Parts: sequence; C-alpha cells; structure tokens
Amino acid sequence: MQQIDPDLADNPESIHGQTPYLQVIELLQTALAPGFYLEIGVRNGGSLRFAKCPAIGVDPAAAITFPLGAATRLANMTSDEFFAGHADRITQPVDLAFIDGMHLFEYALRDFINIEKLASPHAVVVVDDICPNHPLQADRDRKTRVWTGDVWKLRACLEKWRPDLRLVLLDTNPTGLLLIFGLDPENTVLADNYEAIVGELLAPEHDRPPAWIMARKGALAPDLAMLGSVFRGLRALRHSHSSRTEQFRLLALLAPGEA
Ligand SMILES: C[S@@+](CC[C@H](N)C(=O)[O-])C[C@H]1O[C@@H](n2cnc3c(N)ncnc32)[C@H](O)[C@@H]1O
Repeated sequence: MQQIDPDLADNPESIHGQTPYLQVIELLQTALAPGFYLEIGVRNGGSLRFAKCPAIGVDPAAAITFPLGAATRLANMTSDEFFAGHADRITQPVDLAFIDGMHLFEYALRDFINIEKLASPHAVVVVDDICPNHPLQADRDRKTRVWTGDVWKLRACLEKWRPDLRLVLLDTNPTGLLLIFGLDPENTVLADNYEAIVGELLAPEHDRPPAWIMARKGALAPDLAMLGSVFRGLRALRHSHSSRTEQFRLLALLAPGEA
C-alpha cells in the first residue's frame, strides 16, 4: 500500500507515484501495437502523439502542440457528441482507449460504456485521474490545480457491477492509471443500470474518497519491463484470437492471485 509522506498529506496539490503515466501510455502503444486507438481528452496531444496506428482524439478544446501520427484524426467535440453522432468514424474495433476527458464520474462512466460497445475482445481501456492524492483534488467543483474530480468512483463502480472485468491499478504519477481488460461489447449491465449507479455514487455519503482509494489500495508499482512483456503477450493473443481465459492467465503475471 502506498506510503503517504506526512509532509505532503495535507498539501492539496500533492502528487504521488514514481513512474510518469505517459511512460505507460507510450509502452502500451509500442508493445500492444493497437490496430485502432481512441483517446477521450487530448489537450495538447501529449498522450495522443504516441499513437502510430489509425487513431481518433476527441476533445472540444484541443490545442495541439505535439506532432501527431499520420493516421491520427481529431474530433473537435465532447465525447457525448462524438458517441451520439460521429462514432461511425471508427471503422474497426478499438484495441486501446484512454479516458482522460471530463473529470466527473458520470462522464467517465458514459465514456467507458460507449467505448466498450466499440471495443475488440482483447482491448485495453486506460483511465487517468483514478487516484486523487488529496480529498480536495476529488471535489466535483474544481478547487485545485491538480484535479481528478470524482473519476475514482469508476473504479468502485466497476468493482461492484462488473466483476467479469480485470482491473489493474498502476501507481503512476501524478494520479494513477486504471487498466481495464476483458471487455465485452455485449454486456449492457452498466447501461441498463446507469441511473441507479450514478444516483448511488453521487449521493452525499460518497462525496469524499474513502481511505482505500486515497491509499491507492492494490496499486502495482509499474515494472515497465514486466508490463512490456505482458502487453506484447496480449498483442500476440489478439492476433491469434485467443480466449478471454488465456488473456486473464497472462494478466495474472501482473497481479498473482487475481486470475
Ligand atoms: C487532462 S486533459 C487531457 C490530457 C491528455 N490526455 C494528455 O495526457 O496529455 C483533459 C482534456 O479533456 C477535455 N475535455 C473536457 N471535457 C470533455 C468532454 N466532455 N469530452 C472530451 N474531452 C473533454 C479538455 O478540453 C482537456 O483538453
């Protein structure tokens, strides 16, 4: 479990994690080598730049400062608008997606629901801002420069409603990354229960992130060599159309006992 430096614990701008999240995003692109990449929340292209495959970045206010891949396209709109009327721009199953748009639980949940419908069976969905470092960072009304909002609730939601998925939490800097495996485009549990889920997690008793979220409970210190070999293994399984069971067996290398 993450040891929080007591001097930082009361700093609302504190950040944790040894490994920058962009190193994991870059590694996913090179080792997993997705056939199609979708990114929600692009800003200046800092993460989108690593995509070499056909890719779409969705952001209503992107201001790109990094060179992007030749097959990367931008959708200048919110993710809700994109999925409501423009998702036909995605012409093949999504193998890798990054949710880093609006930092509010219900937005991240909708992004996940919409992405899963378009995902390949071997897809990986990555969620940023899953670990607030200070309760103020998790406020729905932004009060800090480092702002995760209440995206942490997506982890709690998936653990409760989607035990069929495999979740891998990485202790990255600044706000952790959640990797979601075992996607099932046919599964409608989240969409069918959307109102109930949002109603429950937006209730006042969930305003403050619980201690296990703040402590990054279950987070793995990213071992980039190990992650790289697992991602390369997933890529091979994707190409051989292997089963979900084989996928989960491989993932057990990351979190022994979770298979
Ligand atoms: C944290 S930045 C993304 C950073 C980028 N992924 C990176 O790692 O370099 C969040 C971005 O989400 C965008 N955003 C906000 N609301 C959004 C929405 N509803 N749909 C899509 N993007 C949104 C913002 O315009 C902002 O550029």
